[in-house]
Amino acid sequence: MSEVQPSESVEQLREAAVSALNSADSSEHLESWRVEFLGRKGRLTALLRGLGSLEIEERKIVGAAANLLRADLDSFYEERERQAKSSNAVVGSLDVTLPGRKPAVGGLHPSTQMIREITQAFNEMGFQTIEGPEIELEKYNFDMLNIPAGHPARDQWDTIWVDSEKYDDVLLRTHTSPMQARVMENNTPPIRVVVPGKCYRYESTDSTHEWHFNQVEGLAVDTGITFADLKGTLYEFARRIFGQSRKVRFRCDYFPFVEPGVDMSIDWNGRWIEILGAGMVHPQVLENSGYDSSKYTGFAFGMGPERISMLRNEITDIRHFFSNDLRFLTQF
Ligand code: DAH
Repeated sequence: MSEVQPSESVEQLREAAVSALNSADSSEHLESWRVEFLGRKGRLTALLRGLGSLEIEERKIVGAAANLLRADLDSFYEERERQAKSSNAVVGSLDVTLPGRKPAVGGLHPSTQMIREITQAFNEMGFQTIEGPEIELEKYNFDMLNIPAGHPARDQWDTIWVDSEKYDDVLLRTHTSPMQARVMENNTPPIRVVVPGKCYRYESTDSTHEWHFNQVEGLAVDTGITFADLKGTLYEFARRIFGQSRKVRFRCDYFPFVEPGVDMSIDWNGRWIEILGAGMVHPQVLENSGYDSSKYTGFAFGMGPERISMLRNEITDIRHFFSNDLRFLTQF
């Protein structure tokens, strides 16, 4: 027997190598396994080096077993490496320990938020919310509202006409007021509605003008409705939207579909800011919809939710509402 024994037997090494390989569960482990067992300074090399000190007969037997072990470990290793590569493609790129991130949650558009706040204020006062068409007939946008063709007031609403071979009386509504006529045509009093929706004007844009924007229209028709009802309702609206102590001012204004017509301003840091137009429904408008104007009266109003939001949120350019810039939208 020689003095120097290989530090471990071929069988011991096989056992250790196989069990370590089975628990190598990542490419890093696999690589360190390769270095430990098959590397130049690894355990198999150490065992082979030790062969020199064995008797010739024993060296032959142990040498053959060691070579067999090397071939086995080489092929076991290759097999494991192949497995690891195919599963690592998924496992390796998914770091399950990464802390979760908050998903980006969308929100309602600032115009929608304002519209809902306004309509809710009126809903609580008994008004029902309805919507109407954005592509409208000239009849409802103008004629029924006491603005016949050739009436100078048509200039007040720069109109985008819809180009059609079949019709020459189709337009993009310039205001939500046509819904006054549509609602009256299809209902009998008492009527109390608010109508939010998009309007369009052939207009160049600047910080206070857009060619498309929202309006909220209101209409109440019944027997015995007076200007006091109009004032009471709009006062209450202003308090709900701008605060209990908000000062409000009405002044005469002209709109063809109301008589008398007014605009309402609110006190904003000592300045009067106009926020809506309103008035008693013109008898002609009631008659146009088939109502007896000696029996029924009503009031109507119209406002721009973007304008109101600009005031409340100190927004200096109406175009922000429609630019889809998340830096703006996410502030609401
Ligand atoms: N439709 C008007 C506009 O676009 C706003 C308006 C004024 C509506 C007075 C009304 C009203 O119902 O009574 O400028």
